[in-house]
This record gives sequence, structure tokens and C-alpha cells, in this order.
Amino acid sequence: MRTIQNPKSKIQNLKTAVVGVGSLGRHHARNYAEIARTGETELVGVCDANEETARQIASENNCNYFTDWRELLDKTNAVSIATPTETHCEIACAFLEKGVHVLVEKPIAKTLAEADSMIKAAEKSGAKIMVGQLERFNPAMVALRPHVTKPLYFEIHRVSPFPNRSLDVDVVLDVMIHDLDAIGWLVGENVKVSSIHAVGIPVVSDKVDAANARIEFENGAVANITASRIGTEKIRKTRFYQTNSYVVLDYATKFASVTSLAPNVIHPLLGVSVNRLEINDVEPLRAEIEAFINSILQDKTPPVTAQDGRRALNLALGVLEKIDEHASKVFPK
Ligand SMILES: NC(=O)c1ccc[n+]([C@@H]2O[C@H](COP(=O)([O-])OP(=O)(O)OC[C@H]3O[C@@H](n4cnc5c(N)ncnc54)[C@H](O)[C@@H]3O)[C@@H](O)[C@H]2O)c1
Repeated sequence: MRTIQNPKSKIQNLKTAVVGVGSLGRHHARNYAEIARTGETELVGVCDANEETARQIASENNCNYFTDWRELLDKTNAVSIATPTETHCEIACAFLEKGVHVLVEKPIAKTLAEADSMIKAAEKSGAKIMVGQLERFNPAMVALRPHVTKPLYFEIHRVSPFPNRSLDVDVVLDVMIHDLDAIGWLVGENVKVSSIHAVGIPVVSDKVDAANARIEFENGAVANITASRIGTEKIRKTRFYQTNSYVVLDYATKFASVTSLAPNVIHPLLGVSVNRLEINDVEPLRAEIEAFINSILQDKTPPVTAQDGRRALNLALGVLEKIDEHASKVFPK
């Protein structure tokens, strides 16, 4: 890991830990263990309410295990929280109040009030919060970001087979939130949403499993997003148009291209140049965790702040409200 140690930083050897080492948290643990080999950080331990899981992941990563996260409060400087969303606020606030920096998985929390409590706890102690909006670290997105000018129209599909996990939340908070975060980031942090239309339906769980949303921004940008967790294949594709270019982004295959008019280019479509962007193929989670650690060591604002996470949550809750409105018209009680 390339870091520039802040000479004023009081942290010499950053003590890290992961709370919740299920399907995603175990990858946090693996990455922290790999980063610890550089000698700048130490993976103190992993915690999971399921003792067998905690023991197994600790043994794979050569660290201690805990079944109660409270035992880690005084042992760490930085934690990843990858427990179910409904637990994020309680666990994050406890660490933040102790001054421990927190990387919390998306969505930041289940409600805006919970997100606000987390933001307050961080402000009080000075600890940093970063939110795990992982797609921002996808190498295709990283390659694409400098080519984004003013997107006007997005067509987005995110489909996966039924996961049998993260069922404490619906498909909007589970996966559509990645795209809601991305469109907000690409359109511009200060551009407000002007309207939301949405439809969604529970199919195999008791929560919305498939949804479609049309989101309009005050600057005229429009996004049409489909998210489903009951598909037969995995699709994570975003296409968008901006003045003079058409952009394709495939998070699953880490592909990004920008198509534009270039009259002097020799191409089967006369005058059209398809620029397939060069990708630096790093694991997105590794890039995310390194960015979190660097923000602590260099005392910088993390690249995805709690406000960014709150904004994505706010948009997701807006979509859910519209889904409810639509359902009450279609299925009146
Ligand atoms: N960024 C991404 O792309 C991405 C992908 C998947 C999941 N997630 C997020 O990560 C979080 C976890 O999702 P998952 O799919 O790994 O879920 P999971 O159910 O596979 O894992 C959660 C783990 O947390 C443990 N746990 C529950 N309550 C706990 C507590 N109080 N203390 C300690 N451990 C506890 C469970 O035993 C389980 O092992 C969710 O917020 C989810 O939205 C993010």
C-alpha cells in the first residue's frame, strides 16, 4: 500500500478490525490482513455474532476473534462494519464515540435519523466515517470518471440471482443504492432531484425484489434504473449520454468505453470513434479500504463521506416512498 504518513498523525501503527464477517465482511478481513503485511497497520481481530464464522475467518487471517463487538471498542483505531444494515447505527455510533474511525457498509443506515446520529457522533469525537459505496472504486468507474462531463440521460440495469442474504432490506436499499449513489455523484453533488417515479414488487421475499425508478434532476438529467435480485443472470450495466458522447460502463466485466464523433477516425461506423478505456484491474474493495486507511493516516476527508451515504439513502427512501404510493393505487387495501 502506498501511503504518505502524516508526520502530525498520532497513529503510528493503525489497529484495524472488522465487525460482521459474513459474505462481504470476510473480504474486508482478508484485505486488512493483506494490508497488515506492509507493516503500517495491524489486523487486531474480527467479530461476528456467529462464533463459528468469527473463529473461521480469524483463523484464515491469523488474528483474534470476538463475538461481541464491544470488546473491540478499546482495542482499535479503525473498523469496518459489515453487519446487517439495521445494526449499522448502534455499532458505528459506539465506535465513533470512542474516536474510532469507521468504514460502514452501504447503505449507511436504515433511516435518515440513524445516519444523522452517526454523523453527529463522528463530529463530536473527530473520528472519520466512510461509506462503502463500492462501485466508486470499480476500476471501470475509476477509468471513466475523468471523461464524465454533463450526463443527460442514464439507462441502468442491475440484476442478480436471488442472494439469500441481505434480506433485512429491499432491493432498493440492497443494490439499487449503488446506482443511486453513482448518478448523484456523476450528475453533481449540488444538483437536486426534481422528481421520482417508481414501481416495485415483492416476488419471492416479503420486501420489494424488483424495482424500476425514473429520477429527474433539476439540471434536466434523467436516469432510468432497473434493479432486480430475482434475475437469472448477473447484469451490472450503465449506459449514459452526454453532449457529444455515449458512455458504456459494465461493473461486472470492468469495461468502460466512450463513443464520440471523430471525423478523421477510420472505423466501420464512419466518423465514430469507440474509445475502450484502459483499466487498472485492482480489487475494488482493496482500493476502498486503502482509501479509508489513507484518509486516516493523511488526515484527509474520506472519498465517500457520511453525507454522500446519507444522500444516497435519502434518494433510495424517496424511491421506496414512490413504490409504496404506486402499490397502494394498484393494490388498494
Ligand atoms: N458494498 C457492497 O457491494 C455490498 C455487497 C454486499 C453487502 N453489502 C452490505 O454489507 C452488509 C452485510 O451484508 P452481507 O451480505 O455480508 O450479510 P451477511 O448476512 O452475509 O453477513 C452479516 C454478518 O454479520 C453478522 N452479524 C449480525 N449481527 C451482528 C452483530 N450485532 N455483531 C456482530 N456480527 C453480527 C452475521 O452473523 C453475519 O455473519 C450489509 O449492510 C450489506 O448491505 C455491501
